[in-house]
Amino acid sequence: MNKSDLIATGDRTGNPSYAPARLIFERGEGMYVYDSDGKAYLDFLAGIAVNCLGNCAPQIAQAVSRQAQTLLQISNMFYSDVQIRLQESLTGGCFADRVFLCNSGAEANEAAIKLARRYQRVVRGEPRTQIITFESSFHGRTLAAITATGQPKYHEGFEPLVPGFAYARFGDLESVERLISADTVAVMVEPIQGEGGVRPAPEGFLSGLRNLCDRTGALLIFDEVQTGVGRTGHLYAYQHFGVTPDIMTLAKGLGGGVPVGAMLATDTVFEGFTRGSHASTFGGNPLACAAAEVVLREVGDPMFLSGVRDVGEYLMASLSNLDAAVPISAVRGVGLMVGAEVGAEKAGAVATAAREHGLLINTAGGTTLRFVPPLIATRSDVDLAMERLRAAMAQVASP
Ligand SMILES: Cc1ncc(COP(=O)(O)O)c(C=O)c1O
Repeated sequence: MNKSDLIATGDRTGNPSYAPARLIFERGEGMYVYDSDGKAYLDFLAGIAVNCLGNCAPQIAQAVSRQAQTLLQISNMFYSDVQIRLQESLTGGCFADRVFLCNSGAEANEAAIKLARRYQRVVRGEPRTQIITFESSFHGRTLAAITATGQPKYHEGFEPLVPGFAYARFGDLESVERLISADTVAVMVEPIQGEGGVRPAPEGFLSGLRNLCDRTGALLIFDEVQTGVGRTGHLYAYQHFGVTPDIMTLAKGLGGGVPVGAMLATDTVFEGFTRGSHASTFGGNPLACAAAEVVLREVGDPMFLSGVRDVGEYLMASLSNLDAAVPISAVRGVGLMVGAEVGAEKAGAVATAAREHGLLINTAGGTTLRFVPPLIATRSDVDLAMERLRAAMAQVASP
């Protein structure tokens, strides 16, 4: 099939809620992906904050290939060495004692919501009902995850939503204080709002939430689906902010391009799950575990993480100093999770023009350009990205 036939077939047979660019990507390598015309794109999107070791990282490809020839799927009715090793390296690198492995971010958040409810009910003997999340948040697309997501556009047409959710304002502790009570199961928050526009929690906000949760017996859930696994230049964003949650969720970067999610918590909180409480056929799938094992080993190296911090700061400084035709009014972020505010009128057009100039980025929150490259990005990748961004902005400013 030629390119236009393929795209037409894709449009006819695919999920109509997607609107892909008219491009077919054929292969990826390191910081680049290549389309069916052979054009190379510098990848500052990374499959939406996923391909942390680069496109088709050979270490991941080898581990996955070896695992595919050894053991692919056995279910949770048995142990596998690769799953156990991954569980040990996940729990060894953070506050948690146990992990539930799954396949995506939404699924990890769904599990977190279920565990929090069960913990309050079964362990504490308190059938609390309310979960507090935040305006402009994003937690995924299952029914509970869209309910947790504090953006009405994701709710429309899917009502009735899951009962028990209330929304506070991100960064505004008083708005949480007004809602939180002895009926609160948990407060669930992204340490840096990603889809909402790359907005790091302001100073004191997460520690304030920790105090409010401790005072009322609510659990604190960090959705680190986007911020986790090295994205901020720390293995987890909670370590950057110095505030420890009770439950943490991961996905995106965890498999370096292979779908895998995780919900982690302490032994005490996990007492909420008893035999048969929660499960997933594919959770802990050996193929996914083999990929995640490689990612954690590489990203967990302090030298790797300090490289992420260095290049992240360089990217933020480069954006702040960019002398471009479309003005950037603010640059926000931590590590290699960076947003540049250009306004609703320009954001989409700049992202599209950047693609035409060979740079993959996207928008977040409608007004912000989002930069979430593979964590192997170097300062010279940033220089080239800025060159292409400047050209794209010039095109948008005077078409
Ligand atoms: C913070 C956050 N949570 C959850 C999700 C949902 O993850 P998934 O698309 O893997 O279900 C996303 C996806 O963008 C996310 O950014």
